[in-house]
Amino acid sequence: MTQFPKAADLGDLLPQPVRSQELLNRLSTRRSAPAQTLTVPGPNPEEVAEILRLGARTPDHGKLFPWRFVVMGPQTRADLAERLSALAVRQGLGGKAQAVLAKLTAAPVSILVISTAAPGPKPVWEQELSSGAVCMNIEHAADALGYAACWITDWYSYDAEALEILGVKPNEKVAGFIHIGTTAEAPLERVRPDLSTLTITLP
Ligand SMILES: Cc1cc2nc3c(=O)[nH]c(=O)nc-3n(C[C@H](O)[C@H](O)[C@H](O)COP(=O)(O)O)c2cc1C
Repeated sequence: MTQFPKAADLGDLLPQPVRSQELLNRLSTRRSAPAQTLTVPGPNPEEVAEILRLGARTPDHGKLFPWRFVVMGPQTRADLAERLSALAVRQGLGGKAQAVLAKLTAAPVSILVISTAAPGPKPVWEQELSSGAVCMNIEHAADALGYAACWITDWYSYDAEALEILGVKPNEKVAGFIHIGTTAEAPLERVRPDLSTLTITLP
């Protein structure tokens, strides 16, 4: 049974970083799973709460918490997929738009991360970046609990009618669906960038 680390209280003295070979190994081999291959077991409600708690320990300029979460089980997503499928037909989006709905329904648990960024004391761009950081942190937290995950947006994250179906308000944006479960498919390494073309190092 997984031991969840104790949540720190406001003002607690926190530990300094320590070298962790286990974490380094994991960061150097972690991969997303194809969303449609995700199946049971997925995180139980206690583990989902922990994934959210760890996921939300994310840099956030101004402590605005410019994001919110919708935890969705399979039944909710099956209903949504049905409505989104009808929408795709109505809008003539074609078979691919319907086919990708399989990514929405496969996993046992999905966390919809919604950016609630708004003009205010800190730039909207920075608030949106924080939502992306939350998504990645959720993926790492899921990974640490032994689950595979995948970050998906697809067309319904950008279509106005679809957003209404998803319950995303007009002033909000979808940062991503983080689908979490278990996959039987062993991940293969994918192409990685040549960092020398993307990096300059200055003295
Ligand atoms: C913001 C964002 C949205 C994404 N949306 C999709 C998507 O809609 N469909 C898809 O197949 N992959 C999507 N991906 C890609 C996958 O989540 C994942 O990054 C990719 O499969 C490989 O990642 P890995 O290096 O973690 O294995 C998205 C990634 C990001 C960062």
